[in-house]
Parts: sequence; structure tokens; C-alpha cells
Amino acid sequence: MKRPGPIVAALLLLAPAMLGAATPPPVTVTSRGLVVAAEGHAAEAGAEVLRRGGNAVDAAVATALTLAVTYPRAGNIGGGGFMIVRLADGTATAYDFRETAPAAATRDMYLDEAGKVVRHRSTRGHLAVAVPGTVAGLALALERHGSGRLSWAELIEPARVLAERGFTVTDAMAEDLRASIDLLGANAAARRIFLRNGHYFEDGDLLRQPELAATLARLQASGPREFYEGRTAELIAADMAAHGGLITREDLAAYRPVVREVLRGHYRGHELLTMPPPSSGGIALLQMLTMLEGHDVAALEPAGAPKIHLFAEVMRRAYADRAAYLGDPDFTQIPVAALLDRDYLSRRAATIDLARATPSREVGGGLAPARAPRPEPMETTHLSVMDAEGNVVSLTYTINGIYGSGVVAGETGILLNNEMDDFTARPGTPNAFGLVQGEANAIQPGKRPLSSMTPTIVLRDGQVFIVTGSPGGSTIINTVAQVITNLIDHGLSPQEAVAAKRFNHQWLPDAITHEPGFASEEAMAELRAKGHELRLRQLYPNDPPRWSGTQGSAETIVVDLASGQRIGVPDGRRPGTAAVAE
Ligand code: DON
Repeated sequence: MKRPGPIVAALLLLAPAMLGAATPPPVTVTSRGLVVAAEGHAAEAGAEVLRRGGNAVDAAVATALTLAVTYPRAGNIGGGGFMIVRLADGTATAYDFRETAPAAATRDMYLDEAGKVVRHRSTRGHLAVAVPGTVAGLALALERHGSGRLSWAELIEPARVLAERGFTVTDAMAEDLRASIDLLGANAAARRIFLRNGHYFEDGDLLRQPELAATLARLQASGPREFYEGRTAELIAADMAAHGGLITREDLAAYRPVVREVLRGHYRGHELLTMPPPSSGGIALLQMLTMLEGHDVAALEPAGAPKIHLFAEVMRRAYADRAAYLGDPDFTQIPVAALLDRDYLSRRAATIDLARATPSREVGGGLAPARAPRPEPMETTHLSVMDAEGNVVSLTYTINGIYGSGVVAGETGILLNNEMDDFTARPGTPNAFGLVQGEANAIQPGKRPLSSMTPTIVLRDGQVFIVTGSPGGSTIINTVAQVITNLIDHGLSPQEAVAAKRFNHQWLPDAITHEPGFASEEAMAELRAKGHELRLRQLYPNDPPRWSGTQGSAETIVVDLASGQRIGVPDGRRPGTAAVAE
């Protein structure tokens, strides 16, 4: 047996100092394949695929489809997302299966006659739904990279069986569903399936979803285009027409996932593979890391005021650019090279004053005065997979809000997204994540809304070192940046790097939002003295109290390159699980 490398040795020998969540789940160490996901049945479905000889892409597809059944707050076939695949031969591809605006969508569809954004119109009900991309995206990645050892129908089977036979609702899920009574209760099918018409689920009850099982069976029998051109498409379009939604059969038939070139960058000798637009995540992450490179972050206390100040200033500048320049590259000219130019970023970083906060109104982009974010429910989920051969998948997908738009499309059992809210409903008015956005992200038919999802793979010496990503809307990019710098700069163990308390600055509102206990009282006083406003992350109305104040959930894999051991690091902020293929 090989000697454990330094990371594994540290894990085995030390009780890790808990910098974050009270009791983070233990890490899982293996030399074989593993899946880290936010829910146990789904992680296990992926691990079983690996055991049966499937590769990381096969396993990611099975896990993602299972999450659509067992983690309906975010797992989905009614939403969209991004997936980065890096094969053991070094080739990497980005899959964009982001939702699109329906053909009948218009720029001002969420405004009233006075030009004001109508509350809930872009977040609840049929009008909030964008054309889903998940099924097409998973199928495309599978077609190009699947091992071929398991068929599409076999990869759907665990999800279908769990939908048909049911699975046991946990205490957390029961609490979660109750917290969403307003949203889910407004739609007849959602009320029946998820609220049992008022006989609310309790810990230990069985949740069966026979209609979703039937939809999955149709996908097995007829292939992925069934969703877009078959009975499922017909049912979705009919439900839309009956309830004032915009999505038609033509919109569904026209949906196509896009293969994009992975966005590559560097940080202190590591190579990063991340998501290009229509996610803002990759560009903003690389901008922040490049600005940080000019500073000796390793010399700073991980939770000290100088470090938090520096990071907040870097975040502020990247998010100002996000608002000004980013949108769907198929609709908007995005100056990617200019935004990532090292000279530009070093000039930008030179405007950081280490003694005081730069007010956001003085930082470019300057769209509108800061406003408090509207607290809205939100949910997305990330999964990381590595197989025994070293192929890896980093996949983040979403229905945007927790339980999306709250709409289950007729008898399909499919919970639909509310991704339309990620567009700029009106320049200058914050969306559900408090993001103030610009023209580049205005609504247009067929366009993809700008995202913050940041599935990322970090290489050290050409080898996979970190596979990570997170939910958390606008905070996602900052969560990923903190996980990466905790490992690379602060040398934290994988468990500590993921558990460490997080904070967020997104240009507007001009404040640092943070998890409870992210810094000492003294450090907080020092940050205030520099001019920062500090806001404890609030409990989103639909979030169960147990998740109060948390930022993201980075289901991560870290490889100990000295020993080759793969370390699965579920994030304790959600009931994350690592499942191993051995
Ligand atoms: O694409 C985006 O940036 C958002 N729709 C993601 C939503 C999200 O992460 C909510 N999660 N907690």
C-alpha cells in the first residue's frame, strides 16, 4: 500500500479544527471512483453505475436524474445547468444546458404599466418558467462521453424506480416542504404531490411520484427528444396554454444544448477549467483569482479582517463587471479576452485601497443605487464525480428558486423552473438574489439568462486536484473562490476548506453578507472601521431553520496528489453524501 500523502495523513491524524458548520460530515477517502452529491439516494445511484463499469459521465447522469426525484427542491428535469467534463486523457468540454426564454417572451414582460417590476411575476407560476434544458444536456454529454456500458434507459432506471416505489421523506425534507406551502399550494398538481392536499409529509413517510415515474418511463422508451417533441412536450405545452404560460411545443422542439469551450485560467501555478458565458461564474472567478495573485494571501489570517477586506474588494470589482458586460454570448458581444486580460486586472486591482472599502458607486458598472435584496427562496445543487480511471465531472444545475416556479406541469409530475428571474427584468432593479443587472442580460426570445453557476475543476501539475461547485445564486462564485483559496493559499485540509465560514460581496448591495461566526468580533470591528457594512445572511423565507444563514453547499472532491487518494467532501450545510464505488 502506498504511504498516505500529506493531506490524507493530516486527515487521519488530526481532529480538524472546525472553522465552519458545527458538525461537517466526515470525508470519504478512496483510490476508486466516487460521487459527492446533496442527497444520498442520488449519490448511491451514481456509485452503483460506477460499480457496474460506467464512467464518471454515466454516473453523473444517473445521479442528476435521481436528484430530480429525491431532491425536488433543486434536482430536476424541469430546469437547466452546466457540466464540465474532463477526461483522463486531458480533454475537457463544457456543456451548456441552460434554459432559454420562450419565443413569446418580451423585454418588459415582468413590468407593470408604470414600468415597475411586478412582485412574483418572474419567480412564481407559469410565466416565470424558461424552456428546460436538463434532459437534452445530460443526453448530449452521455452521447459524447458515456462509456456505452450502460444505456440511457438503464441510467434512468434508478430514478424511475424511486419515483414509482417512493422513498422515505427525511425530517429535513418534510420541514422544507412545509416551508414552501405558499408556493406549492398555489398549483393543483404541486399541492397534491408535495403537500398531499394538506396532509403534510412527516419524517418517515413515503413520497411516491407515479406521474414523474411515467414521464421517466417515456424517456426510457423513446429517448431524450421525447421530452421536447413527444407526449411530455405536449403535456407541458398544454399546461402552459391553460395557465397563461408562454412555452409552446415549438419552443420545446427548438431547444438545443450547446457544447462550449471550457474557460481556462491560472492561479498560482494551478490550471482552472470552468464555465464560460452564459454563466458569469467562470469569468468572475478568474478575474477575482487574478486580482488576488498580486497579494500574498497565504500570509493573511484565513478569517482575519485584512483577508476579508481584500477578498470583498476583489469580489466587488468582478461583480461590477458582471453587471456591466455579461449575458448570453449568442445574443450579446462579451469582451471575454479584455475582461481576463492580466494588465487590465492588475490595473483594476491597483484601485484597491487596503485601508478602506471603496464604495460601490465609485466602482465601474455604475447602474443604479444599491438596494436591499428582496429575500426570496432559492435552490440549486452541485455534484462532483470521479471514476477509477480519473475522468471527472463537475455539474451544477438548478430550477432557480427552491421548488422552482412551484408549477408541476399537468400530469407530467415535472416541477418547472423559475429561471426567467435570472434575466434583467428592469435595469437597476435587483432580482431575487439582489443582483442589479444590465442591458447585456435583458430578456429576448430564445436567449439564455445569465447565471452564476460555477462548476470548476482545478489541476495541479496537469493532474485533477479539486472538483467543486455550489448552489447559492449570486454567492456561488464567491463560495467557489473561497473553497479554492482555502486549499491553495491557506493550506486547509479538504474538510476545513469546505467547512470554513463564508462571506459574499457582489458589488450591489454594497455590503458584505456573511455566515454567523465568519470572523471574530475584533475582525468585524476592523472591517466596519474600513467602511464595510456587514450583514448576517438572512434566513430565506422558505429555507428550513436548520439552514439559516448558510452560504452555498460545495459538494467537493479533492485529490491528494502524493498518494493518489480521492477525498470526497460533502458540505455539511446540506445533507451532502459521498458514495464510493467499492
Ligand atoms: O443560475 C443561477 O445563477 C441561479 N439560477 C442559481 C440559483 C441558485 O443557486 C439558488 N441556490 N441556492
